Amino acid sequence: MMRAAAFAAAALFLAGCSASVPQSGDATSFDRATQDNLAHGERIATVLGCLDCHGADLAGRDHSDELGTLWTANLTRSAAMHSDEELRVMIVTGRRPDRDLWDMPSHLFGHLSAGDMASLIAFIRSKPTTGEVHPPPTFGPELRAMMTKGEWTSSRQQVEQQAKVTLPDLCKAHAQGRYIVQATCAECHGKDLRGGPPPFPGDPPRPDLTMMVPACEPVDFATLMRTGKAAGDRELVMMSAVARDRFAHFTPQEVEAVGSYIAALAQREP
Ligand code: HEC
Ligand code: HEC
Repeated sequence: MMRAAAFAAAALFLAGCSASVPQSGDATSFDRATQDNLAHGERIATVLGCLDCHGADLAGRDHSDELGTLWTANLTRSAAMHSDEELRVMIVTGRRPDRDLWDMPSHLFGHLSAGDMASLIAFIRSKPTTGEVHPPPTFGPELRAMMTKGEWTSSRQQVEQQAKVTLPDLCKAHAQGRYIVQATCAECHGKDLRGGPPPFPGDPPRPDLTMMVPACEPVDFATLMRTGKAAGDRELVMMSAVARDRFAHFTPQEVEAVGSYIAALAQREP
């Protein structure tokens, strides 16, 4: 409890709801750590997990298993076939002109700023066209049963279902933290950050972040984001690799923004 209070106090001191806190530029975007638009696009594609799922060359990956066939799209081919606006619509609606997408987390990306989205699309377009267009998904009997029961929904359906789940908009000083958390942590910890059981059996359960983050000292939280090591030098089953691959690319200010937003949320809704 003492540590939770100390963290929240430190967070409020550093990024508190006070009008005297200077704001750097547009707080509701990722930091512009570089003037280079493509480098900015690459950094946020890394942080948002686009590169993890679509591959470093963006040519797509085979995520098929015994349940069915699923490739992440070859974005170099998509870019060759579609305008910027068509790409944007697919990214945020979870639908392509001919069908719904599956397992593309479009529900996380609808609130991205126009500037961040433009950099992301410019980065996709900068990659050389390579590889094949991958086959559309196929669903085995187990997936079809889950779909019938509504336990597994398309990316478009998720966008619709999750549209009403939004995190509290605290004060302006926490806008950037909220913006980043909704596009990143929400993917696994839930759009309300309350965690829950793993989506597929065998994966580790996802802790409630409003319980976990305030329990960390600010320095532990920054170390987790930068190195993947949790307090006590623990290596975590999934989170450690996710942090190293993606969140190590946050700027120090973004780490601070994420930590203090979650701490403020926890203080508000214990
Ligand atoms: C968790 C994995 C995952 C992440 C993260 C992810 N995608 Fe996807 N994405 C997919 C899958 C899977 C598909 C293909 C779905 C299908 O064919 O039904 C897809 C499809 C797409 C398509 C549709 C392309 C087409 O021509 O059909 C676009 C565009 C796209 N993703 C862009 C992005 C961008 C940009 C990001 C990061 C902001 C991103 N994706 C993050 C898994 C992911
Ligand atoms: C790809 C899924 C995924 C994403 C994205 C993700 N997490 Fe996690 N996180 C997990 C899982 C799973 C655990 C439970 C530990 C484990 O088994 O890896 C966890 C654990 C944690 C913990 C507890 C660490 C401890 O001390 O035990 C914290 C704190 C945390 N995550 C913060 C975050 C923050 C902040 C973000 C967004 C910037 C985030 N996570 C994004 C999957 C994810």
